[in-house]
Amino acid sequence: MVSRVIPVDPFDLVLFGATGDLAQRKILPGLYHRFEVGQMPEEARIIGTARSDMDSDGFRAVVRNSIKEFAPSYEKDTLDRFLSKVDYVPVDALGDAGWSDLAKALRSDVIRAFYLSVGPGLFSGIAQRLYDAGLATSDSRIVVEKPFGHDLASAKALNEGLRACFQEHQIYRIDHYLGKETVQNLMALRFANSLFEPLWNATHIDHVQITVAETVGVEGRGAYYDQSGAMRDMIQNHLVQLMCLTAMEPPSKFSPNSVRDEKVKVIEALEPVEPKDIARGQYRTEKGDDGYLDHVGDPGSRTESYIALKAHIGNWRWAGVPFYLRTGKRLRGRESEIAVFFRDPPHTIFPNVGPLHGNVLVIRLQPDEGITLRTTIKEPGQGGFRLSDVALDMSFADALGDNAKSPDAYERLIMDVIRGDQTLFMRGDEAEAAWAWVDPIIHGWEERGDKPAKYDQGSSGPEEALMLMHRDGRRWRQIGG
Ligand code: BG6
Repeated sequence: MVSRVIPVDPFDLVLFGATGDLAQRKILPGLYHRFEVGQMPEEARIIGTARSDMDSDGFRAVVRNSIKEFAPSYEKDTLDRFLSKVDYVPVDALGDAGWSDLAKALRSDVIRAFYLSVGPGLFSGIAQRLYDAGLATSDSRIVVEKPFGHDLASAKALNEGLRACFQEHQIYRIDHYLGKETVQNLMALRFANSLFEPLWNATHIDHVQITVAETVGVEGRGAYYDQSGAMRDMIQNHLVQLMCLTAMEPPSKFSPNSVRDEKVKVIEALEPVEPKDIARGQYRTEKGDDGYLDHVGDPGSRTESYIALKAHIGNWRWAGVPFYLRTGKRLRGRESEIAVFFRDPPHTIFPNVGPLHGNVLVIRLQPDEGITLRTTIKEPGQGGFRLSDVALDMSFADALGDNAKSPDAYERLIMDVIRGDQTLFMRGDEAEAAWAWVDPIIHGWEERGDKPAKYDQGSSGPEEALMLMHRDGRRWRQIGG
């Protein structure tokens, strides 16, 4: 298998918030990697903008440092060539300063991408300034980071602000989970194989568990996180997207609108979630270890750093099949996976072996990307007929060697922006539909005054989450080994 790199067309990428954390950690190193492998053409240019009053040399020094830190395998000559494509124009995102300089810095005959690596409060204002300055040409794209709003009303306002200046096919709303290799593999698994699709429904599937567990806490991001919580930060976007790709009908083709039409249908079919089907938690302060409340600096905060909930998709394919979603910080392991539990065999012909277990298909997103199928076999050996569950395990790293090394999600997504491919980006109606499902759930616990339960750092989450599953006679998959 040979990995192919097809260079994209020449572009000017204007990076707003160029001195910010995401730009330094992900976007600039990502662009460097694409340059290194030959996907970013020599004629491409990156124009950093921010309010800081520095010149291009000053910005290049900043970029050099970020590449050294976040792309440590860099080569000096390649980095020098990359930096020769980088410029800087100081721009006041909401004031008048800098916009005419930015206009002068842009070429008219190449693709333009405006990447807004800034808070959502600045999206509409920047879009308007770009439009007023005549920079939003028909060949421009605008890229916005998550969070895409705080609730349905703010997401609608953002959509209106962006659409007043750009057309929907020019707007790229990032959900970096869609850029992860195994997330795309989920579509390949479902729609490039004939084995699974006939079984992919309520007749054969008992339930689905989607887990995104993290070991990190919210330290350093407390101010943002405490306004969001796990529901807004992770469920509304990343986990809903994973659920959509797992549950959607086969799109007629792999094109942006065919795929996104099917995802929207899943979100719109989501039923309201009952309070008893939600478990929220906060990691506690422990001896020697600050807890959530210390990290956000508010001893009275009721924001959740963990959430588990049971979702139902009200359509023919999924009637009665629960989708259990859970995500949390400071948990026992860093693990993201989708586990599809097939129904138990209806009848056993084997005497004295107890009930048979259903197969479980696990799609591991990170770490150690791969696919496992829990299968029942005869236990080897003489004397009696016993069964045991074993994993048919495919680690992509083992199966594909170097070809399994996939670019960071951001690299893939930025190149898709330049190529003009929106398949892996959220459409405006999709973001709104997800908020329309999430908003009443949040309002519900706010109105009831629910407090998140405490959980130990390094655990699997609060007891309440275990109970949520136990009540249904099921068990969560273990987090962390
Ligand atoms: C971000 C969230 O979108 O995703 C973070 O804001 C979270 O809170 C992160 O830590 C997880 O991303 P990944 O790629 O590390 O799984």
